[in-house]
Amino acid sequence: MIVVGGSSSKDLAKELAKALDCQFIAAASTRFPDGECYTRIDAEKIDDDVVIVQNTYPDGNLVELLLLQDVVRNLGAKSVTCVIPYFGYARQDRIFKNGEPESAKVVCKTINMNCDRVITIDIHKEDVLRYFTCPSTDLKAAESIAAYFADKGIDVVMSPDIGAAGRAKDVGTRLGVEYDHLEKTRLSGTEVSIKPAKSNVDGKSVLIVDDMISTGGTIMAATAQLKAAGAKSVYVACTHGVFVNNAIEKLTGSYLDGVLSCNTLENPVSHISVADIIAKALKG
Ligand code: R5P
Repeated sequence: MIVVGGSSSKDLAKELAKALDCQFIAAASTRFPDGECYTRIDAEKIDDDVVIVQNTYPDGNLVELLLLQDVVRNLGAKSVTCVIPYFGYARQDRIFKNGEPESAKVVCKTINMNCDRVITIDIHKEDVLRYFTCPSTDLKAAESIAAYFADKGIDVVMSPDIGAAGRAKDVGTRLGVEYDHLEKTRLSGTEVSIKPAKSNVDGKSVLIVDDMISTGGTIMAATAQLKAAGAKSVYVACTHGVFVNNAIEKLTGSYLDGVLSCNTLENPVSHISVADIIAKALKG
């Protein structure tokens, strides 16, 4: 097996190759002056199964993934597995208003043209994988998050809304601690309101888990409620640290005691690695 790291995921791809004890090739991807993607893999021929690690967000990374799929096929790859740590466009998974595209379907079908297997991590809506005709799996980062926090004295795992309650349960169960969820109402793209916590967090160390942090509005509101309810410390761990509009700075400068993300998107706080869960899936 050979792991090819696209420009969005070089560190994760390198770690994955190490975990699999196989060859790693970093794609030499650059941009032409007009912004178009140029990529190249420095190999004469590939007579092996290839795993490409590359996100589909932002848009340029999707194009790079498509080009890398073509490169490895042309070099003779026996099979092509696309590991897409952060699958962009999963949120527009249907036509919500007349005249909109089925973005997730378009992205899946395009990748599917040149791919034998797909692995995603905590995709926003798992149902999106139905658009792939090749085998596809969504891995859960809860195992990686729980492993990271195993010795950090967490008393309660909390999700900011009911939608992520399963994730809180998964991480809480793995840590052997209580879990619960808060109640969130989204007011706009950047604003949310969260009701006061119902469970007793007084004097406790709380870990908030969510699939992604974008503006950080959800986590700021959840943290404020947990601190108001007497939480001793509040940490947050998300799978995908999208962090728009200086969200990392806002969160690290807030009431929070720690902000962590997995390395599905590489950023200054992506210290929780999902390499092991991907390696396990590829070996299995
Ligand atoms: C919502 O469904 C997601 O799980 C996240 O809670 C949300 O995307 C976070 O967005 P933001 O950081 O902008 O509040």
